[in-house]
Amino acid sequence: MSDYLVQFNNISKFFGKVIALKDVTMKLRKGEIMCLLGDNGAGKSTLIKTLAGVHKPDEGEIIVDGKKTIFDSPKDALDMGIATVYQDLALVSLMSVTRNFFMGREPLKGPPFFKIFDVKTANKIAAERMGQIGIDVRDPSQAVGTMSGGERQCLAISRAIYFGAKVLVLDEPTSALGVHQASVVLKYIVKAATQGLAVILITHNVHHAYPVGNSFTVLNRGKSLGTYEKKDISREKLLSMMAGGEELDKLEVELNEMNRVSNS
Ligand SMILES: Nc1ncnc2c1ncn2[C@@H]1O[C@H](COP(=O)(O)OP(=O)(O)OP(=O)(O)O)[C@@H](O)[C@H]1O
Ligand SMILES: [Mg+2]
Repeated sequence: MSDYLVQFNNISKFFGKVIALKDVTMKLRKGEIMCLLGDNGAGKSTLIKTLAGVHKPDEGEIIVDGKKTIFDSPKDALDMGIATVYQDLALVSLMSVTRNFFMGREPLKGPPFFKIFDVKTANKIAAERMGQIGIDVRDPSQAVGTMSGGERQCLAISRAIYFGAKVLVLDEPTSALGVHQASVVLKYIVKAATQGLAVILITHNVHHAYPVGNSFTVLNRGKSLGTYEKKDISREKLLSMMAGGEELDKLEVELNEMNRVSNS
């Protein structure tokens, strides 16, 4: 049996003439946080959408739990325990916290064929689960739109765990958050991994990825620059590998030169 829970082997994906991914290989163990890094348009979201059942890869294979897997729909992926929290967050602002927590999987009560939504139980579970991660939801019937960005991310993660996800995929969960909220979300992600979940954390932000990641994969224009265990790569090296690193270094040199000239 393979040591890895998820394996992407030589995945390619084309959109017409656009090569979104070419020959990307990436592996993930249970209880591990793998950070997927790369600049805008590098192919990060496309890669995880092949695991979430949104896109079928044009080349390569995905192996989950040792079995070659082809997902025909997002539901197939969800049934295999792969939960994805998308960049634009699949929450409905005007619906309540509880409704967003259950999303069509609400607990029911009553006799067979006459079952109704068990609001009380659902509210209790939603509030309890949010409470466990330190988010005090005073009124679970309040609209999700009234929660902060960090609280909404935590809700989406907590929902995935409650419904038994094995693999949690988070696409830029901290990009819209301030320092404090980002650290709350990151702490929660680490907690999820220590409970045995495998996490793919997509981010632009090396400073968010480095403290929590066990391994790092860098994508650059659809190609992988490799996967590194934390002990084998420094934060600085990761920063410079991401596209733009070198350009920013050059920019700094140019700005220094401009300052020198204007001060002389
Ligand atoms: N449905 C699509 N149709 C056509 N092209 C697409 C589609 N989805 C993605 N692409 C292209 O594939 C490339 C990779 O896009 P992708 O969204 O995976 O990048 P990303 O790394 O997630 O970027 P960002 O950091 O901005 O979210 C881009 O050039 C994008 O324009
Ligand atoms: Mg993206």
